[in-house]
Amino acid sequence: MLTLGIETSCDETAASVLEDATGIRSNIVSSQLVHSKFGGVVPELASRDHMRLIVSVVREAVSVASVQLPDLDGIAVTCGPGLVGSIIVGLCFAKALSYALDIPFVGVNHLEGHIYSAMLADPCIQPPFLGLIVSGGHTDLVYVRRPGDYETVGSTLDDAAGEAFDKVAKLYGLSYPGGPEIERASSDGQSDFARFPRASVDGYDFSFSGLKTAVLYYLREKGESVKEEHLHDLASSFQQAVIDSLVGKALKAACDYGVKTLTVSGGVASNSVLRERMTVDARQRDIQTLFPPIHLCTDNAAMIAAAGYPKLKSGQRSPMDLKPFARMHL
Ligand code: KG4
Ligand code: ZN
Repeated sequence: MLTLGIETSCDETAASVLEDATGIRSNIVSSQLVHSKFGGVVPELASRDHMRLIVSVVREAVSVASVQLPDLDGIAVTCGPGLVGSIIVGLCFAKALSYALDIPFVGVNHLEGHIYSAMLADPCIQPPFLGLIVSGGHTDLVYVRRPGDYETVGSTLDDAAGEAFDKVAKLYGLSYPGGPEIERASSDGQSDFARFPRASVDGYDFSFSGLKTAVLYYLREKGESVKEEHLHDLASSFQQAVIDSLVGKALKAACDYGVKTLTVSGGVASNSVLRERMTVDARQRDIQTLFPPIHLCTDNAAMIAAAGYPKLKSGQRSPMDLKPFARMHL
C-alpha cells in the first residue's frame, strides 16, 4: 500500500511516499528560509510559502519514489496542531488530490507523527514506551500504551523547549532557528559558566519561560560585552539547563511508569549533547533510548504518512469538511 504524507503545520513544506508501514520511498522537506530575518516564524509568510511550494514538493516526492499519482492508495495529512493558515494549505491540497484521484484521505495529529518517527526509525520497537516530543511548538511526555492509545503525562506549562532555544538565541544575537546555532556556539563552552535556573515544577510538567527571563536579566546585569567575550559559555550554560530539565523529567516518568524504552523526537532531539546525556543517564537506569535520525526528528511527512497508514488500512476516512486545528491533544 502506498500512502502519500503531507505536512504543512509550521515552516516546513513536506511530502513523502511511504510503502506499507515503514518503507520510506521518498521524504522531501522544503524548509522555508523566509523567516530567519524575523527571528521566528511569521504565520502569513509561512502560508504563502506553502502555497508556492506544495505542488513542486508533492511532485518531487512522487517522482523520487518512482511512482505515478494514480499508484497512490491514500493520503495522510496533518490537520493540527499548528498554524491554521499553514495547515489549510496542506489540508486543502490533500482534499483536492483525494477527490481527483478518488482515493481516501485521513487527517493526522502532528504529535502522533512525531511518535511514529521513532517507530519508523526502529520498526521493532515494542509498546508500552514513553515518548518525549521536543520541538519548537511542543514539549510533551507521552505514555504510548499501544499505537493509537496515548496518555500525555507531562507538558510544558509555558514555552516549548525549542521555543526557548529560539528566543535565547535571539537574545544572544544568533539567527533563527536558534537550536542548531546554540548547539554550534556551545561546542567549546563551559556549561557551568552561568548557573541558570532549572524550574521546579510538580509531576512531569516542564517550564522554560523562567529560564529565558533569567538569561535576559543576566545579560542586562553583565552588559552587552559578556555576549562577545563568553558566547560559547553562555550558549553551553543555557543548553545545559534545558537538557537537565528534559533528562530529569523524562527519566523520572520512565522509571515511574516502568517502561524500558524512551523515544525522543522533534527538532530539539537533533541536539547531540541531549542525545548523549539522555542515552548515558537512561542506560544507568536500564532504560533504552531511541532517537530517530535527524531527518526524521525535525518536521517531515514520512512520519505523517506512517501515523496515517494504520488508519487508512483499517478503513478510517476523514470527511471533506475536516477542519484544521490550532490546538489538538493526543
Ligand atoms: O520539530 P521541528 O522541526 O518543528 C516543530 O514542530 O516545531 O522543531 C523545530 C525546533 C526549533 O525550535 C529549533 O530551534 C529546534 O527544533 N532545534 C534544535 C536543534 N535543531 C533544531 N534545538 C536544539 N538543538 C538542535 N540541534
Ligand atoms: Zn513538529
